[in-house]
Amino acid sequence: MLAPVRLSEGVHWVGVNDRTTELFENLWPLPHGISYNAYVVEGADRIALIDAVKGLFVPDYLDALERLLGPGRQPDYLVVNHLEPDHSGALGAVRARFPGLRVVGNRKTAEFLEHLHGVGGDDVLVVGDGDTLDLGGRALRFGLVPMVHWPETMVTLDTGSGVLFTGDVFGGYRALEGALFDDETHVPARVEGEMLRYFANIVGKYSPMVQKALPKVRALEPRMLAPSHGVVWRGAIDHVIGLYDRWSRHETDPGVTIAYGSMYGGGERLAERLSRALREAGVATVRVHNLARSHASYVLRDVWRYRALVVGTPTYNLGVFPAVDALLRLLEDKRLERRLLGITGTYGWSGGGVKGVRAFGERCPGWEVVEPVVEARFTPKAGHFRQVEELAANLAARLER
Ligand SMILES: [Fe+2]
Ligand SMILES: [Fe+2]
Repeated sequence: MLAPVRLSEGVHWVGVNDRTTELFENLWPLPHGISYNAYVVEGADRIALIDAVKGLFVPDYLDALERLLGPGRQPDYLVVNHLEPDHSGALGAVRARFPGLRVVGNRKTAEFLEHLHGVGGDDVLVVGDGDTLDLGGRALRFGLVPMVHWPETMVTLDTGSGVLFTGDVFGGYRALEGALFDDETHVPARVEGEMLRYFANIVGKYSPMVQKALPKVRALEPRMLAPSHGVVWRGAIDHVIGLYDRWSRHETDPGVTIAYGSMYGGGERLAERLSRALREAGVATVRVHNLARSHASYVLRDVWRYRALVVGTPTYNLGVFPAVDALLRLLEDKRLERRLLGITGTYGWSGGGVKGVRAFGERCPGWEVVEPVVEARFTPKAGHFRQVEELAANLAARLER
């Protein structure tokens, strides 16, 4: 999908699709790619660029600007809502192409700009929360939303069109498939899953700050939400704000994620029996992840969505199996709240795996262990499968409440 695309009178998308990068932040898989959305707002007197793109895409970005603005017309400002290099990587090239262009950001942006790009002094225009920047016939209004996703993060409203440029907020993985706007695609099938995965991976840890940001977003009464990744929201604005509100309040759906490690198949058999027992007990949604195969990015997404998590682990060197341990560390770091935790495990000559998972549950805020904890020596026997069925029934009962 090639830029530019018109959002409104004097407002265009000049972003790019990235279908090449394997891992976002060199961490999170991008099987469907991602877009870096950048925008241009043209006033009667001045032109502002809103964010830029990853450095890899400088030629496409400059080409889009050239086609939109035509020869001789130069942007006056580059508004940096968020300085992370997936948006500011092109900053140096943009400044080189358009001498005299000033970078617009808040005090934190200015501090980071100096260190990240060596840009400062008169080249930077510092704005504060609620400040406006006149472009002629329209103005930009800035709202600071720190820690969604970095301390310098802000949103920018174009008063002329009502488009609110939101940075990472309301963004998602998946390159744009010809559809720039939410009402041009099927949101539940093509947008929400990758948007939740992005939220859980990137933004979710800062949920308390999201809760502070949302009233600010609503107060600006946006007619469109234009994030820096994924679709532009113009049809389902209330819906997407509602999703963010729900996710950042740790509200969940009644389902179960089973995440297990298994070296020789015993733990896997417990997980298989459990998945069917949960269905038979009336649980509508069950997600199963073998942690040797599923990237934690997807498990985290499912745990963010569903109320219950069952962790299965062998005992490995007196502790939790490494792949399971990595997931638990990630979950703890993301500060998920109020989940139901089921535990299954195996051991040979000494315990330790199940004990480690239990300790994890006790450290997580508002988590509750659902009994019975199932632990088999070497390999599960009939009694362990009966315990798994009891665990399924107990989880189902808790999810109905
Ligand atoms: Fe970011
Ligand atoms: Fe980003």
